[in-house]
Amino acid sequence: MTGEEYKERIDAALAESFLSALDLPLAGLADSMRYSLLAGGKRIRPILVLEFCRICGGSVDEAMPIACAIEMLHTYSLIHDDLPCMDNDTLRRGRPTNHIVYGECTATLAGDALQAEAFGTILRASLSAERRANCAACLADAVGLDGMCGGQYLDMLGEGKQLTEEQLDNINSRKTGALLIAACRMGVAAAGGSEKQMEAAARYGAAIGAAFQIRDDMLDVISTEAELGKPIGSDAQEKKNTYMALYGEERCAAMVNKLTRQAKDVLRGAFADTAFLDQLAESMAVRKS
Ligand code: IPE
Ligand code: IPE
Ligand code: MG
Ligand code: MG
Ligand code: MG
Repeated sequence: MTGEEYKERIDAALAESFLSALDLPLAGLADSMRYSLLAGGKRIRPILVLEFCRICGGSVDEAMPIACAIEMLHTYSLIHDDLPCMDNDTLRRGRPTNHIVYGECTATLAGDALQAEAFGTILRASLSAERRANCAACLADAVGLDGMCGGQYLDMLGEGKQLTEEQLDNINSRKTGALLIAACRMGVAAAGGSEKQMEAAARYGAAIGAAFQIRDDMLDVISTEAELGKPIGSDAQEKKNTYMALYGEERCAAMVNKLTRQAKDVLRGAFADTAFLDQLAESMAVRKS
């Protein structure tokens, strides 16, 4: 399957989410969840789930709920990341942010509910109980105190302070890397892949995760609002520590290239068919949005 075909199937599966709530009194909350979930987005994390599952010999159809779940979790993290108490941003995926449209209270609840729905979607999948449990454990490990939330906390604490490279790496491996690692590992878990494949998936995820945040920091400076679908200059405004501020564009680009090479190398030996993931890593290194 091509990336575009994966994306179409993921978008179609996500569009089925929360339809049952749309005619209830809580339709407003379901609306706000769907507003952000169906606003587009590159769907990189669910694509990673499906492709890792496929190259481990698993069924893409059976892994679709796992793919949708990680996108729900990711969308929750974006809704909360944009709140006035966090990055205070007004544009996301080319649309006004969730709290601008629905208010802070509903946006907060939409994020909370998307997180619960993510775990419910995994637990209701038609995979074996063991595979569902492994997928849920991968996700839980990635997003709590020691993962995404911990990273977001450290990101906030670091605002306005001069951090070292080590501190910045620590923040980014948690706030962004952990979920990308989880996406790769969940694909392997959905297919019942081997320990060796799990290890290689985690190392690939760590390398593309590090490259992903460096590229995100670059785009906040060098892209345009129209192309990126989110505001430019938000990091400087919030006095964030970023790779761009620490190293500048040229060194950032070199770091992204090195990490992309590393990502491709770790796949060798663990998987037979790595063409899609090689190409995905390369396209993420030069992405414009
Ligand atoms: C943005 O993620 C947030 C970060 C972790 C840097 P994406 O760049 O994957 O955002 P969407 O899903 O395509 O909107
Ligand atoms: C966000 O990092 C990471 C998470 C949402 C967990 P950023 O704050 O840099 O992401 P953008 O640039 O707003 O998408
Ligand atoms: Mg942020
Ligand atoms: Mg942000
Ligand atoms: Mg950013």
